[in-house]
Amino acid sequence: MQTVGNDTQAIITEVIRHRRSIKPFDMDSTREVDSALILELLENANHAPTHGLTEPWRFHIFTGEGKRTLAETMARLYRETTPEAEFREDKMRKMSENPMLAGAVIVLGMARRGGVKIPELEEIEAVACAVQNLALSVTSAGLAGYWSSPPLVYTRQFVEWLGLGTEDRCLGLFYLGWPKAGFTPPKANRKPVTEKITWHQS
Ligand SMILES: Cc1cc2nc3c(=O)[nH]c(=O)nc-3n(C[C@H](O)[C@H](O)[C@H](O)COP(=O)(O)O)c2cc1C
Repeated sequence: MQTVGNDTQAIITEVIRHRRSIKPFDMDSTREVDSALILELLENANHAPTHGLTEPWRFHIFTGEGKRTLAETMARLYRETTPEAEFREDKMRKMSENPMLAGAVIVLGMARRGGVKIPELEEIEAVACAVQNLALSVTSAGLAGYWSSPPLVYTRQFVEWLGLGTEDRCLGLFYLGWPKAGFTPPKANRKPVTEKITWHQS
């Protein structure tokens, strides 16, 4: 196996630590993201680990007028599926505005093909690994990306609209775009990893 040198390690550390969630508001709505570039990013996502090689990630890419269709559908389904007491006009507006601010929206699907052999949790974990590959590739390409998970994406209505199967799930939306000119990403905000580590040495 080819070994990974010190340079590669330094580069990957930099990419991981510079990855930030950058929301559609900070994306340049006038710039599309080239489909060849999107494919390249998703090729990296496709290299995520997957138990039993089920490769459960499914990507539904919305660009151009497709973003409008997604925006209108999300607003309609939000109205249809939200109980009156929980309904918020501002949330519905955001759902119809956000896709139009991004260069592309990648809806994150999880297709259950492993049967009982692979627990659903592991299929969800595999998709999350794929999304992290995507997010890191987005960062290294100088793009902005953001994983969004409004409750609507977990509804059967939205999953069915995407054309996913009855056992499949939607895990969210990944907004993708070029950052606005002059945009400065926020600094990372994490408590020390030592607070989350327990060593067992005997
Ligand atoms: C599974 C998942 C779902 C997320 N959903 C949302 C969301 O719905 N709204 C939101 O503001 N951020 C969402 N985020 C992004 C987090 O808010 C973000 O990762 C966190 O604030 C840390 O910022 P950073 O990604 O820039 O390090 C989500 C992240 C993950 C991993």
